[in-house]
Amino acid sequence: MDKFYSIKEVSELLKISTNKIRFYEKKGLIKPKRDDANDYRYFGEDDLIKLQTILMYRELNLPIETIKDIFKDKSKDNVLNHFYIQWKVINNQIHKMNLVQDSLENIMDNIYESDSISYKEKVIETIQSMNEVWKIKSEWKDKWNFNSWARTYDESIKKDIGSLKFYKNYDKLLDTTFNKAIADKENTIKILEIGVGTGNLASRFLNCNYDIVGVDQSREMLNVAKEKFPKLKLRLGDFLNIPFEDNKFDVIVSTYAFHHLNDDEKEISIDEMLRVLKDNGRIVIGDLMFKNEAKKEKIMKILTEEQIEEIEDEYYSNIELLEAQLEKHNRELHSTQIDELVFIIEIN
Ligand SMILES: C[S@@+](CC[C@H](N)C(=O)[O-])C[C@H]1O[C@@H](n2cnc3c(N)ncnc32)[C@H](O)[C@@H]1O
Repeated sequence: MDKFYSIKEVSELLKISTNKIRFYEKKGLIKPKRDDANDYRYFGEDDLIKLQTILMYRELNLPIETIKDIFKDKSKDNVLNHFYIQWKVINNQIHKMNLVQDSLENIMDNIYESDSISYKEKVIETIQSMNEVWKIKSEWKDKWNFNSWARTYDESIKKDIGSLKFYKNYDKLLDTTFNKAIADKENTIKILEIGVGTGNLASRFLNCNYDIVGVDQSREMLNVAKEKFPKLKLRLGDFLNIPFEDNKFDVIVSTYAFHHLNDDEKEISIDEMLRVLKDNGRIVIGDLMFKNEAKKEKIMKILTEEQIEEIEDEYYSNIELLEAQLEKHNRELHSTQIDELVFIIEIN
């Protein structure tokens, strides 16, 4: 015979207040039986399991509505989707909190070092700059819809779609990026790829038993990469909010991805990459770039309208600008040209 528990018994068993149990009932997460005579609630084993699951999900900060939806649709896809959404929320919170912590440290140093009148200006300045950085970090959007491109991406490379034909040296770019990344490094190094896409560059490292993890902002790209390379470790994340702690990687690589960031975003992403990179680490980026503004103008003059439109839809890097930014970090940039529009930059 089924066993039933009173609200008091459930409260004692699960160590939660009776108010909380009533709250979850009111939200429609559990539906205990009611005694017609006295309106008392009676909880079965299923209700207990459900309550335990609710408590567990609440530990992960999952919102009530999310838990409700997981109960409604228990499919792997739906559950994974909710966990990804929650994971992104938490990653954003961590990045926001890190910014707040850095700003507080900056402010406290200033209070120590300045007289009582001038520190207030510094506080305002620090908060304004923190807000500007956070705006850039939190507002990047995938306006190219990589999720919808993921399943046909490899096919488009083979066909070298687009009027600029910038995939014509795809394999050469990936091979050269791989070779530059591992040059003079032990094979025990930790590698991060950002904008991993369908995993074509990462697989080169994987095949040689390197420890690599790929990050991409597109869930569908991650799905395709995982289907192609089940052993590849993957994380959702982006150039501006890298989901790893400081000083973790020996090498960061990326191909055909950096040009989805404008100059301000690139500057912040360089800070982010240097944050997760070890002091003697290296960054190797293969992508669409111009040497400088003058070279860009010269090339733009000989292009068709369609080609210009294609270039202006994205943000090709200006190598000299990046060089100047990296100088501020005491880092050297070395560039190698693959063809008219494709370069590799190596940052040491
Ligand atoms: C053109 S594909 C290149 C994929 C792969 N790296 C390759 O070389 O074939 C661009 C990839 O970068 C990812 N991407 C674009 N902007 C990004 C960002 N801000 N952070 C992380 N990934 C990004 C896209 O989702 C997409 O998977």
